[in-house]
Amino acid sequence: MQQTETIFETQFEEEVYIGLTDFPKHLSSKYFYDKRGDKLFQDIMDMPEYYLTDVEFEIFETYKQQIAALFVSGNDKFNLIELGAGDGKKTKVLLKHLVEQKISFTYQPIDISQNVLDQLEASLQDELPQVSVQTRQGTYFEALERINSDNGAKKIILFLGSNIGNLLHPQAIAFLQSVRESMQEDDLFFVGFDQKKHPQTILDAYNDPTGITEAFNKNILVRLNKELDGNFDLDQFLHWEVYNPETGTAKSYLVSQKQQTVVLNKLELRIDFKPWETIHTEISQKYDDATVAWLAAQSGLKVSHWFSDQGNLYKNYVFTKD
Ligand code: AVJ
Repeated sequence: MQQTETIFETQFEEEVYIGLTDFPKHLSSKYFYDKRGDKLFQDIMDMPEYYLTDVEFEIFETYKQQIAALFVSGNDKFNLIELGAGDGKKTKVLLKHLVEQKISFTYQPIDISQNVLDQLEASLQDELPQVSVQTRQGTYFEALERINSDNGAKKIILFLGSNIGNLLHPQAIAFLQSVRESMQEDDLFFVGFDQKKHPQTILDAYNDPTGITEAFNKNILVRLNKELDGNFDLDQFLHWEVYNPETGTAKSYLVSQKQQTVVLNKLELRIDFKPWETIHTEISQKYDDATVAWLAAQSGLKVSHWFSDQGNLYKNYVFTKD
């Protein structure tokens, strides 16, 4: 089939086209999160193997007083801006504490999924009606542009859940740099970084026996079938996770179990898979202090504080402008 000029209606279409005609093939993990993907990720956070959510929750429970004290120093009203807020499970610990302390702030959760934001807003209305909430839909980069145009109040920017781990180091640096550009002198940037640990613990977190992570990874194919009129046969792809303890990089793949051709009608695209050919779908980077300090230095930030769980599986770092 001859592909002449293809005009893309959305960035999604363009990125899918590029990713599936590239070698090796890849798709961006940001496309996991439609309504079904949001639900699957919430199920992942509830799995015993997915320790990340539990340990960050533990850090918030243990250190909420110290964390809040950092945020309010100066005692002016501040904006708590959360990038990739999701269901806000961990943030709610802090929000509750701030409300109880009668601290004045606004909460501005930003997420790529409007669906998740609607749920978050409704649950906050119900559980913490005192909190003034302003949701915004968008990618992190879009969100930052809008943060930039905000005036006045001190900003505390939260980026939790090791969401930063979806970015390769060069992308993470570009991202941290643009956050830095939106920061004033006394603004804080509070970020969760999953730490390097026993490789089996990491593999188990992305390889649950019930197949929730598999369904999450394959949800990107479900979306392609639905939204781009495709015919991926989910059973002909394997969910495969690898972890490199040297680099700290966990990667998710979908592996074609046979030679097959898949069609995406909406893009007028035929995609040939060789037996055992891969689609790389996600990176979940793991860190150590040296790597975080290096990322900070590359981005014009410095680590002012950090908080860790009992088992040292995970750390939240507080960055200021260097
Ligand atoms: C939401 C990006 C932090 O990489 O650990 C969970 C997503 N992928 N299981 C992660 C995810 C597979 C998660 N982040």
